[in-house]
Order: sequence, then structure tokens, then C-alpha cells
Amino acid sequence: MGTPQAWWTDGKFGLFIHWGLYALLAGEYQGRRTENIAEWIMHDLDIPKDEYRQLASRFHGKAFNADLLVQLAKQAGMRYIVFTSKHHEGFSLFDSDFSSYTSAKTASHRDFVRELKDACDRHDLMFGLYYSQAQDWDDSDACRDGFGPEGKDFERYFQNKCLPQITELLTKYGKIGLLWLDTPMYMTQEQSERIKKLVKRLQPDCLISGRIGNGLGDYMTTGDNFIPSLPYPGPFEVPATINSTWGYNAFDSQWKTPKQLLRSLVKIVSRGGNYLLNIGPRGDGSIPEESIRVLESIGSFMRKNGQSIYETRALPLYPYDIEWGFFTAKKGRLFIHIFEEMDRAYLLNIANKPLRCYRLSDGLELTLKERTTCEGDSSWLINLPPRQKGEIDQVVCVEIAEDFVVFEPIKG
Ligand code: GLC
Repeated sequence: MGTPQAWWTDGKFGLFIHWGLYALLAGEYQGRRTENIAEWIMHDLDIPKDEYRQLASRFHGKAFNADLLVQLAKQAGMRYIVFTSKHHEGFSLFDSDFSSYTSAKTASHRDFVRELKDACDRHDLMFGLYYSQAQDWDDSDACRDGFGPEGKDFERYFQNKCLPQITELLTKYGKIGLLWLDTPMYMTQEQSERIKKLVKRLQPDCLISGRIGNGLGDYMTTGDNFIPSLPYPGPFEVPATINSTWGYNAFDSQWKTPKQLLRSLVKIVSRGGNYLLNIGPRGDGSIPEESIRVLESIGSFMRKNGQSIYETRALPLYPYDIEWGFFTAKKGRLFIHIFEEMDRAYLLNIANKPLRCYRLSDGLELTLKERTTCEGDSSWLINLPPRQKGEIDQVVCVEIAEDFVVFEPIKG
């Protein structure tokens, strides 16, 4: 495991963007709907390559607006973007010399990676790229879920498309903060090492996600939408959907609420991780209005309470399961995220000396009574003000005398 860059370790919250030919199909092909994540539609509905390739002639991206995407991320309080440069379908959203199957050589004649990277530079947002290094359903020698290596010359694909395209992405677009690799399948240790050596030679500061395979990532990438149940002993990132699919699906209305997404963000950050939350633009590049609404709501929380997220570090395990809230922390401060409407918060077994207690969003001073219970446990009782209008969660900040938060074991 490497030591991730401070922008990533401190940034905590990023925007994943899944866009490709699959977005044109929006979950359905010739009257058949996919039951799976929509970017897998070519595989799941077994659409022949030649048929699927026709989509490229319809991929204009007329509503793709890089500045809008970057502003949406920034206003949501996100500190980086990860954009699909080539997904499992094999279609590249950049101008590659190693494939004719790209957005620059078909209908749009646009290099969307360049457009988004330039917008990130204009608005000072860190830029990362998703690249599917093993699966490529447009090339019979690449991996494909459900098919073994028999009859394939993966090394040919690896040398003729994968490595040259990774080289292009890391030499033609300026600083790339993160290369987000995916589904390593049966790539060997040696092949994963070759990717790592290439990336670190071309851009030594470029982070590599855990799905490079063979344990060679700079951090651990969890399963999709899965949050570690305990503080994880190292850097990790949770990739998550905003509904139930990565690529756009017109029939997926399972939009998560801002409250649900914030609860996930807080839990992940509390355990030392990053949250990479996805949007799936439509085939024309426009952003589903529900995604915008949810991210704007999260942004209003982050503007007032972001310091309870950014630059925080993993907390030790708190001995009790408190349904109504969660903790995050940074040097000298404990943040208590209160999910429910309550008039007071009662906590046990925090060994720290509280110096000051206030509502983070507006600095409203709060009373914190500390005492020792009859069982000898330390206890805090904090009187809470009514929630402010439109506030999703209240965050109470307790400045403590020590650098680090310490929880006491249950005396029993
Ligand atoms: C899974 C899916 C892929 C998606 C990724 C996001 O690997 O195969 O389609 O891009 O999750 O984490």
C-alpha cells in the first residue's frame, strides 16, 4: 500500500462519472431491459460487437458540458473527479492512436477526457481517470466476465491497447491525480506490476486504485456500495451509486436521499475512508435532474459543516452503537453528527477533556455537562438547539484538550 497524496487523504469526497455508449441505451435494447447495472448492457444482453459499435455513430454528446460537471462537483463539496476514459465496452472517450473506436474518431469528433480535464484545471479541481484495464468486450483477446483465458491472447491486448492507452492518458493530458483501474480478472501479478511501474514512471504522484489487482493499489477499494463495518487499518475508498446503477438507466428511480448519502459519507470518513459518489449522465451528456438535486442538497450541508469531513482521520472504535449519530474527528476536535431530531445528546466513555462545545454550522455555543456515572463511566450531556430550517443533520463540535479522541472500554 502506498501513501496517498494529501489532496486525496484530506479531500475525502469525490465525484465518479460513468458515461459511454451504454448511456445511449439507458438500460434497454430492442425492447429488452437489463436487470443489471446499465453499463454492462452489451455483456448482459449479449449484444454482438458489430451491432453495439453502431452506437458510436449516435454518440454526439451535444449536452455534455464539462464546466457544468465540475461546478456540480465543487458545489457538492467534492474535492476530485474520476471520469470513465474507457469502460468494459471498449469505447474510448479520448483521442487514442491505439484504437479507432473512440469519441474523437466517431460522431462527436470530441475528446471528452480533454474537455473535462481542461474544465478541472480552470476550476482547480483534481482530475482522475477510470480505465478498465482487463475487460474490453470489443476485443476478443481481452478479459470478459464469465469467460476464462482459454483461447485468448490477453498479452496481445495488454501490449497493443491497454498499456499504450494508459501511456497516452498519462502523457497527453497533464497532471492526472488518480488512475482508477477496475475488474483485474485473471491478470497476473507481473501484469499488474507492469501497469504500476508504467504509471509511477510517467507520473510518480498519480494514485492507483485498489482494483489494479494483486494488492498493488495505493489504497484499498471496497466492493461497490460496501462500507467497512470497522475502522480500516489503512487508506480506502468506497465507490457508490447515487441510485442503483453506474451507467445511466432510464428505468432506475432508486435515488438515494441526501440524508442516506450523508450518513454513508460520515460513516466512511469516520472509519478513515474516502467516498466516491457516482453520477451517470444520459447518452447526450445531460445530467439527470435527480442527481443534481441530491448533490446540491449535500453541498448545502458541506458548505456549513465540511470541516467535520475534510482533513479528518479514522477514529478508534467507539464501544457503543448509537443509532442517532456518528463521530468524525481531527486534531483537537471531535465532531458529533446528529442524524435524528433530538433535544439532547447523551454520551458515555469519551475519555477526553471537553473545552468548548458548539453547533458547527453557526458557532452557536452549547452547554456540555460532564460527570462520572454511578458505574464510574465518564459521561457527556449536551443540550441541543432545534435544527435549523432545511438542515439535513446537525453537527456538534467539541474542542478537546488532547490531540486525539480517546474512547474508554465499557467497564461492565
Ligand atoms: C464494477 C462494475 C463496473 C463499475 C465499477 C464501479 O466493477 O463492473 O461497471 O464501473 O464497479 O466501482
